Amino acid sequence: MFESLQAASADAILGLIAEHRDDPRAEKIDLGVGVYRTAGGVTPVLDVVKRAEQRLVDTQDSKTYIGTAGAADFNAAMQALTFGDPRYDDRLTTIQTPGGSGSLRVAAGMIMRASPSASVWVSEPTWANHVPLLGGAGLKLRPYPYYDTERHVIKIDEMLAALREAPAGDIVLLHGCCHNPSGLDPSEDEWRAIAEVIVERELVPFIDVAYQGFADDLDRDAFAVRHMVGLVQEMIVSTSCSKNFGLYRDRVGTLSMLSADTATRDIVNSQVNNLVRTIYSVPPDHGAAVVSLILNDEELRRDWLVELAEMRERLKSMRTLLNDALIVAAPGHDFSHLVRATGMFCFLGISAAQVARLKKDFGVYMVDSSRINVAGITPDNVTYLANSIAATLGSD
Ligand code: LMR
Repeated sequence: MFESLQAASADAILGLIAEHRDDPRAEKIDLGVGVYRTAGGVTPVLDVVKRAEQRLVDTQDSKTYIGTAGAADFNAAMQALTFGDPRYDDRLTTIQTPGGSGSLRVAAGMIMRASPSASVWVSEPTWANHVPLLGGAGLKLRPYPYYDTERHVIKIDEMLAALREAPAGDIVLLHGCCHNPSGLDPSEDEWRAIAEVIVERELVPFIDVAYQGFADDLDRDAFAVRHMVGLVQEMIVSTSCSKNFGLYRDRVGTLSMLSADTATRDIVNSQVNNLVRTIYSVPPDHGAAVVSLILNDEELRRDWLVELAEMRERLKSMRTLLNDALIVAAPGHDFSHLVRATGMFCFLGISAAQVARLKKDFGVYMVDSSRINVAGITPDNVTYLANSIAATLGSD
């Protein structure tokens, strides 16, 4: 049987981890996969996570299965974190999922059950795994314009025009904040305009919230969700705790679905639990239990907000640092869009050939599209990085 298979290509993002690891050059820089790093280049376990884990070890008295929906206290705390308003609780169902990707996969299964002929509209470009993940689950995907690669701005008019052509019942996948890969989010007025089209065209927003707290703060980063929940009948929201709690490998996320009324919500709830059983049976517990302890404990929650702000501020300052270094290293080139973007990512705005040269000649790793993870920048490597980028600018 297996001899019929062809080797699959390495994942465009995850493949870079191994390539960078195996590069012997001391000066190498990893701007690839989206994980946070300190100025010392490490992805730390947050101090609050360590403390909550200790508490968990001391108090947890069973490792028996949790149900298909996960833990009720975690789900309630995460729903409140995302939606920020109990007014919609009787129309919402939220389940614990294995990371944001697990959430997206279950959401795709629910769309396939509820509306298999609907298309899911995705931003052009979007997270590299959105398309294979959702498409692999059987969904039909259609692109809407989003990022202007020349001017480094959002193509808001083209985006709205494309969505105005979408048939009623289609689904629009949006990035709640820190758009991956561009780092450019709609302004609040632009979100209002997007919501208007969604309501007018009777579309269903599907908001992927993987970076809440990485752009401005937890509340402002949830603006899109909180604005739309008051306007629409139905909505899907996927969240991830990989970044804002640093729990990448523990796989922690949620899937929330808003229904038109409580009776439909109860049916959705039964369907999603049934679906989960057919995919991974029950979600992993450890990371979600840690998040629940943090969110439901005043002191841990306060300390988490401090650590979250530290990560966010470091990312912001690295954007400025690189832009400033590029002003010196590459005069005449404009990289100011680096500073206008938020969260972990933005495009450098160079060609795939230049990206390849940065890797080969300088040991600087980034996704072919020239998406960089600014967490890989440090005060120690920024001059080398800027000089390396400058050296490739003339080449193609
Ligand atoms: C990224 O885009 O680099 C992150 O979301 C990690 C991943 O799984 O791709």
